[in-house]
Amino acid sequence: MSTLITGIGSLVTNDPAHGPGPLGVLAGAAVVVDGGRIAWVGPAAAAPPADDRVDAAGRAVLPGFVDSHAHLVFAGDRTAEFNARMSGRAYTAGGIRTTVAATRAATDAELDANLARFVGEALRQGTTTIECKSGYGLTVDDEARALRIAAAHTPETTYLGAHVVAPEYADDPAGYVDLVTGPMLDACAPHARWVDVFCERGAFDGDQARAVLTAGAARGLVPRVHANQLGHGPGVQLAVELGAASADHCTHLTDADVAALAGSETVATLLPGAEFSTRAPYPDARRLLDAGAAVALSTDCNPGSSFTSSMAFCIAVAVREMGMTPDEAVHAATAVGARALRRTDVGRVAVGARADLLLLDAPSHVHLAYRPGVPLTAAVWRAGVREV
Ligand code: NIG
Ligand code: FE
Repeated sequence: MSTLITGIGSLVTNDPAHGPGPLGVLAGAAVVVDGGRIAWVGPAAAAPPADDRVDAAGRAVLPGFVDSHAHLVFAGDRTAEFNARMSGRAYTAGGIRTTVAATRAATDAELDANLARFVGEALRQGTTTIECKSGYGLTVDDEARALRIAAAHTPETTYLGAHVVAPEYADDPAGYVDLVTGPMLDACAPHARWVDVFCERGAFDGDQARAVLTAGAARGLVPRVHANQLGHGPGVQLAVELGAASADHCTHLTDADVAALAGSETVATLLPGAEFSTRAPYPDARRLLDAGAAVALSTDCNPGSSFTSSMAFCIAVAVREMGMTPDEAVHAATAVGARALRRTDVGRVAVGARADLLLLDAPSHVHLAYRPGVPLTAAVWRAGVREV
């Protein structure tokens, strides 16, 4: 069963072969979807016939968003902490332990239902690929079950046993790193694609982070790093040195950090929801882009520092506050997010790619920044299946 989506006023392909700029925008376009893949892309007037036909009526289509950084296996929320923060209290890594307690107390079915709800919420806003980290269990069994549950919803699962030192190891952080790099890794590696560590004051230092990432890599997990979120530190340099797929947050960077990212394959993933929700200064996307670094945008959706699943919100904030153009921000939320997950089948509209498409209730992708807070999702296809 093939579907022709035609009458597309403006199609973001992320393929320079189709149009100008990195977005490869094609006006007056059509797409044919067949068997979950893109089968044809081109001018509407030249489109081949298909079994079914959808008229976009001049509206914009872009690849489904690729949210490469989210923490969605948890229970409870942290409304009180957010409320206190908006009254002046500072954000610290320690708040994570509140969610750890609630998550440990939840049943598998409760965690699965919560995760399904957030994946669905994201899908309704155009996110067709989403990464999901563990990190709110912090025991061998709780981390393994988080990843088992996540793996039922997405292939992009990340082992984040090194989120903070588990409360039981408060007086023995070295013992906790031994657990994370030993028995916990053994239990988690079969369910994970990636390994991550929160390299930050109050969480794990450079040496501990290196131990976690190299142990994960030895088990076939590819590193990504929570780096330089709350202050300067070794996270970004470590990510680059170890060939991490991404260094995430990148809020406090030295010139050497920027140069290291620019000279590497490591994507700088910026998470404006975190600065928004912790009332912190935004990362400087312009500085990174001008230096030549690859910049992705993601939600960091989690109950503590960034409780949004909206990639459109992140795009709007990145344009308004972080020096990105609308084109750069949309590219960062699609093609570069895919690159941060080392995926070539998503984040672009090209023959052979997975048919992940977002039809906007707007004539152009620029409206994602121009009309902040407005629900612009008209339709979403994931692997060729119309979901919204
Ligand atoms: O990416 N920085 C570490 N982890 C999350 C915060 C998690 C939490 O506060 O619960 C983040 O912002
Ligand atoms: Fe995070």
